[in-house]
This record gives sequence, C-alpha cells and structure tokens, in this order.
Amino acid sequence: MKLLVTGGAGFIGSNFIQYWLAQHPEDFVINYDVLTYAGNLENLKEVEQDPRYSFVKGDLGDYETARRALEGVDMVVNFAAESHNDRAILDPGLFIKTNVLGTQIFLAAAKDAGVKRFHHISTCEVFGDLALEEERSFKETDPYMPKTPYNASKAAANHVVMAYYHTFKLPVTISHCENNYGPYQFPEKLIPLFTTNALEDKPLPLFKSSLNRRPWIHVEDHARAIEAILLKGKIGEAYNIATTVEKTVEQITDLILETLGKPDTLKTYVADRMQHDLRYALDPSKLKRDTGWEPTIDFDEGIRKTILWYKEHPEWWQNCKSGGYQTYYEEYYNSLAQ
Ligand SMILES: NC(=O)c1ccc[n+]([C@@H]2O[C@H](COP(=O)([O-])OP(=O)(O)OC[C@H]3O[C@@H](n4cnc5c(N)ncnc54)[C@H](O)[C@@H]3O)[C@@H](O)[C@H]2O)c1
Repeated sequence: MKLLVTGGAGFIGSNFIQYWLAQHPEDFVINYDVLTYAGNLENLKEVEQDPRYSFVKGDLGDYETARRALEGVDMVVNFAAESHNDRAILDPGLFIKTNVLGTQIFLAAAKDAGVKRFHHISTCEVFGDLALEEERSFKETDPYMPKTPYNASKAAANHVVMAYYHTFKLPVTISHCENNYGPYQFPEKLIPLFTTNALEDKPLPLFKSSLNRRPWIHVEDHARAIEAILLKGKIGEAYNIATTVEKTVEQITDLILETLGKPDTLKTYVADRMQHDLRYALDPSKLKRDTGWEPTIDFDEGIRKTILWYKEHPEWWQNCKSGGYQTYYEEYYNSLAQ
C-alpha cells in the first residue's frame, strides 16, 4: 500500500510515520509537508534512509503539487494544519487559510487522484468546552461548538471533509483526538515548553486558571488508533480517540518540576489566554466497539519517559527554540503578564 501523510514533519505526523513504517514492512509512505516553523525533518532522521519513505515539499493549498504527489496513492492521512491556539489568536486568518481552504484544495486533489481513503485528523476542541464540574464527555454526534479561531478552523474543515463524502463520494473518515504528549512536540505546547524552560531554569508561564483540565494520550496510542480506523473503521464515520486520563495544568507542571528535580519557584502565573477553554473530554466507546482499539501506554510511565526524552535531546529542542522563537514567546507572555 502507498500511504501519503500530510504534515508528516510535525509532532504527531512524524511519530505516525515512524510507527507505520515499523508496523507495515510492505508499505510505502510519502511525507507531504510545506515545512512551516513547526515542520522539522530532524524528527524523521531514523527513517530518512528507508527506501519505503519519501518526502515531498508541498502546501496543502497547492493543487498541482498535491495532485502530482497523490498519483497512485491508496490512502491519505491529513495531519497538516496550523495547530497552536495561542498563534490562532494572533493570526486567525492563517488558520482559516491552511486548515479550511488548504484542506478543501487537498480534498479536491485526492478526489481527482481517486484515493481509496482520506482520513482527516481533527480535535476534541471542535465540540467546545465543558464546565469543570460536568460529568459528561462528548460523543461524535454532539454538535460542534468551537470557541477559538483554531477550534473553529478545525470544525469548519470537518464540515468540508464530510461534504466531499456526501457530495463527491470521496471515502473519508475523521478522528477527533484529545491532547497528545510524546517526543518531537514543538516547544510551544504545554509539556515541551515547560520541560525545556525548566531545563533552562526559566519561568514556566501558567495561565491563571491553572485548574483547567485536559485529557491526555500518548502519541503512539494515537498512531495505533488511526491505524485501527484505516484498517477497520467505517467509511463516512467520525471517531473519538481518547483515554480517561485528565490532568490540570497545575498537575502537569508539578510532575515536570518533580521529574526534573526543579523548584516550584519557576512557576509564574500569567493572564489567561483569551477564551481559555475549561475542560475537554471525549467518549471513545464507538472506536472501541468498531475497531477494538484500547490505549496501551500508562500515563505516569509515558509522561516521565517523555519528560526525560526532552532532557536527553537538548540539541533537538534548542534548535527549535533558536531563531525568532525567543522574541515571539517573550513578547507574547509579557503581553499576558501585564
Ligand atoms: N497536538 C495535539 O495534541 C493535537 C490533538 C488533537 C488533534 N491535533 C491535530 O493533529 C494534527 C497534527 O498536530 P501536531 O501537533 O502534530 O501539529 P504540528 O504543528 O506539530 O505539525 C503540523 C505540521 O503541518 C505542516 N503544515 C502546516 N501547514 C501546512 C500546509 N499549508 N501544507 C503542508 N503542510 C503544512 C507543518 O509544517 C508541520 O509539519 C493537526 O491537524 C492538529 O489539529 C493535534
């Protein structure tokens, strides 16, 4: 089989490519990525010499390049996106351009190339948030209620994907996943940002509402779930991918400091992100029923290994944090601190 992965140089995409090549020795994987600040081919060092792996530099929104790359492809997994909520507040238009218009153009190219499956990666955040004391979790049938520009762009993309299924009979599936953790995550997201700041003895900027909760899944369990959907999922369906692990931002911060043996004094409280969603939670029972998928990685073990991975790979994250990164985040968190 020939699989094309968009956004394969990012966090989840690069972990997924490594997982797929290891599990499917007969398959070929094309990584289609435009290499934004979040795209890093260093993430794929271990497979770059593998004759079953190839890289195409291309934009989701570039129909001609996409159409050429999609020739002879059986399945697409569409990870490529602008993925950071904070950046979406600063530049919402870019998120609509990439995540909505880019996805539509790539769908058109996939339809014209006759792919047998288009799997689109979405997020729990399309459903909006839940109150902290609420017991329930979102099902696939709940209405989309996005509240931030990132969430809205992901919800809009899902509608476009389903429109290509109903109108053009493109064989699609969608998955909504909760927060991922693991190696190779760009150090602007909570776990790698706080871990690498702690390693540098720099402040960890917690949003004031640090009791807001997030559900967490190891990136490899996410890869297994996508594999289960590609092999056993039903065409035209959306699936929630989730564990039952929920942690507050404060708990994650404490775990990072404790694992690295760093002091509590590194915690610095800044003003909340505009529209700081309270809590996300997904019900994964449909995925379990249709495919038999279950998460396999214990949170306490997975998170400690992840924190130590960043400790052991300083050259990887120092490289990510060079260039315009420092100024960007200093300005951003300073603006929140006022
Ligand atoms: N990280 C999470 O916890 C999480 C949770 C649920 C869903 N998701 C979704 O999973 C997907 C991957 O997330 P991630 O955290 O790996 O993101 P990431 O930001 O680490 O990587 C995104 C990748 O997409 C590429 N890209 C961006 N714009 C592109 C374009 N126009 N054309 C081609 N490539 C482009 C980037 O170069 C990068 O390699 C996204 O769709 C995101 O919305 C992420």
